[in-house]
Amino acid sequence: MIKSILASVLLATAAVQASPALTERGFENANNDDPYTLPNADRNARARAAAIDVKRQGWQYSEFPMGVAYYPTGTLANKTIAKDQETWLPPILEKSAAATKESVIALAAINSKGGFNKLEDYVNLYDGQWPEAFPEGPIPGILTNFTDDRTFSMMRLSAAPYRVKRVKPSDTLLFPVDDAAAITGLSLKQLQTQGRLFLQDFSEMKELDPTDKFGAGCQGYFYIHPKSGDFLPLAVRPLVKGRENSALVYTPKDSANDWMLAKMLLNQNDGWHTTWAHITQSHSAAEIPYLAAIRTLSDSHPVLVMLNRIEKTPWNIRPLLQNGVVAGAAPDSGPAYYAWTSLSGRAWANQVYASGETANFQSNYYRTFLENQGLINSPVGPKLKSFPFYDDVSVIVESIREFMTTFVNSYYASDSAVAKDSELQAWQRETVVAKVFDFPKSITSRRTLIDILTHQAYLGGVVHGVTSTNGAIGDTTSLPFAPAGFRQPIPTKKGVKDLMAFMPTPEGAVWQVVTYSAANRFSWKDTNETITYMFEDQAMLSKMTSQTRVAAQKFKSDMNAFSTEVRARKFDKDGLNRGMPFMWNVMDPNWAPYWSVV
Ligand SMILES: *[C@@H]1O[C@H](CO)[C@@H](O)[C@H](O)[C@H]1NC(C)=O
Ligand SMILES: *[C@@H]1O[C@H](CO)[C@@H](O)[C@H](O)[C@H]1NC(C)=O
Ligand SMILES: *[C@@H]1O[C@H](CO)[C@@H](O)[C@H](O)[C@H]1NC(C)=O
Repeated sequence: MIKSILASVLLATAAVQASPALTERGFENANNDDPYTLPNADRNARARAAAIDVKRQGWQYSEFPMGVAYYPTGTLANKTIAKDQETWLPPILEKSAAATKESVIALAAINSKGGFNKLEDYVNLYDGQWPEAFPEGPIPGILTNFTDDRTFSMMRLSAAPYRVKRVKPSDTLLFPVDDAAAITGLSLKQLQTQGRLFLQDFSEMKELDPTDKFGAGCQGYFYIHPKSGDFLPLAVRPLVKGRENSALVYTPKDSANDWMLAKMLLNQNDGWHTTWAHITQSHSAAEIPYLAAIRTLSDSHPVLVMLNRIEKTPWNIRPLLQNGVVAGAAPDSGPAYYAWTSLSGRAWANQVYASGETANFQSNYYRTFLENQGLINSPVGPKLKSFPFYDDVSVIVESIREFMTTFVNSYYASDSAVAKDSELQAWQRETVVAKVFDFPKSITSRRTLIDILTHQAYLGGVVHGVTSTNGAIGDTTSLPFAPAGFRQPIPTKKGVKDLMAFMPTPEGAVWQVVTYSAANRFSWKDTNETITYMFEDQAMLSKMTSQTRVAAQKFKSDMNAFSTEVRARKFDKDGLNRGMPFMWNVMDPNWAPYWSVV
C-alpha cells in the first residue's frame, strides 16, 4: 500500500539517480582572491572576454520535456548540473525516506483511532506524527478554525494571494448572487460599484483531464463588509465541464455541509495552483534570466556572483518534476488522489507560463502585481483592513531592496556607469534570445538593476516559500480544508448529506502529507539556509565592496528582528491574529529558506 502511495507522489524522488561525483571542479569555479570587478575595471579585458566566450559555448539553450523556459545544456552546464546534484539531492532523499517511514506509522495511528468519520478527525493525520517530515503540522488555528468563514477568506490575503483581485466597476460580473443583499447589506452591483467586490477565477480548471477523483473550476466572490470592514466570502460557483449552464452558486446562506463543500472545492483549486504554478512562478521565472546572465556576465562580475548566490542549485528541479509527471502518468502509478492527471498538470503549468501570468518579469514585481490586482493602492474601494501577505512580504522585500541598493550603488557611481557596463547590456540583449517575458527593455539606470535583483531574490525566497517550502503543506494543501481531490462527483443539486464521502481516505490523506513534505524543510529552521542568511556568504562578501558587507550585516539583523516579531504573534481575545482565525507564520525569515529548494 505504502509503495503505491509513493509511486503516485508528484515529486517521485525514487526515480532520481544520484550522479557520479565529479573530480574536476569545472571552469566556472576557478578560484582566486581578487575582488569582483565590473568589465571596465578589469586589468585583463581580453582574457575576461575570452572566458565569457568559452562559457557561452558551454552553456547553451535546450528544450525540456517539462516545457516552460529553456533549459541549459552543454559541457559546462552539464557539469554544473551534476555537481549541484551532489548537494541538492541528499536532503531530498533523506526527506523522502523519513516521510515513507513515518507514513506507515501515521496511517496506523489514524486507523487505530477509527479512521476519519468527521472533518475534525483529520487532526489525527498530524497530531504527534511526522517527527521528521512535518513535526509542527499545519499553521496554528487552521485545523480547529476551518468552519469560520474568515479562515477561508483570509487565506486569500495570506497563504494564496496570487489569483485574487478586486473587481473593477467596469468589469462584467461573472454570475449573479441572489442572496448578496441579504448577506452583505448591498447588492452585488453596489458592492462592485463601491469597489468592495473581489474575485478568484479558476474556471479554466474545469477543462483539465480528470482522474478517478473529482474537482471543479471554481469562481469565488469575496467582499469588504460595509460596516465591519472585514474581508469575507460571498459566493462560490463550481464549474464542471458540460454542466456549465446548470452550475450552482453557493453562499454562507446554504446549509453548513453545502457551504463547506463549496469552500473546499475552491481551496482545492488554490492548492492545484500553488502546486503547479510554483514550478514556473518561482523556478522558471527566475531561472531563465539567470541562464541569460551566465551566458553574458563574467564570473568576476559582482552581479553574476550575486545571482549565483540567490539562484542556488536551480537546474535539478525540472528533471525531478518531469520524472514525477511521468511516474504519475504510468499505468502502475497506483491510486490517484489528485482530481486531475499529472500530464494535465504539466500542460496547465505551461499554459500559465505562456500566458505570462507566472512568467512575466516586471508585472510580477510584488508591488506592481498587488497594485494591478487592486489589492494595494486601489483607486476604487476601501483599503483592505488587514493584508497579512503584504505586511510580511513588504518587510522582507524592502529589506532586500535596501541591501541591493547599497550593493548596486557601491559599484556604479551613476546611472551612466550602468549604461556603460558592456556585460550588463549584453545580458539585457540576451534576455530577448532567452525569451524572458516582460524583462526591462533597457538597463540604463541603477534603479532598474536594483529592481531586477530584488525581484530575483523575491522569486526564490518569498514566492517559493509561500507556494512550496513552508507554505502549501501548512495551509493551501492542508487537510481537512484543502483536499487535493474529491471522491464523489460535484453535486448537481444542493443538500449534501455526507461530506465525508467526498473527503480523502486515510491513505489519501497520508499521501497528501508525503507529497508536500518533500518540499518542507523543518530541519533548516534557524540555520543559514533561511532568508536571514540570504547574503551571508563570507567568501563572497570578502571579495565585494565594504558597503556591501555592511549592508549584509544590516539585512541579517533586520531579518532577525522581524523573525522575533513573527514568533511573538498571538491570538487576540477574539481568537484572531491580524483578523485571521489562524496564525500565518510562513514568512518567518529564520525559517523560510532563502532559495527555491524544490
Ligand atoms: C548535456 O546533457 C544533455 C542531457 O543529458 C545531453 O543531451 C547533452 O548531449 C549533454 N551535452 C554535453 C555536451 O555533454
Ligand atoms: C552554513 O552552515 C554550515 C553548517 O554550519 C556550514 O558548513 C556552511 O559553511 C555555512 N555556509 C555558509 C555560506 O556560510
Ligand atoms: C483559532 O484557533 C486557536 C487555536 O486553536 C484558538 O485559540 C482561537 O480561539 C481560534 N479562533 C477562533 C476565532 O475560533
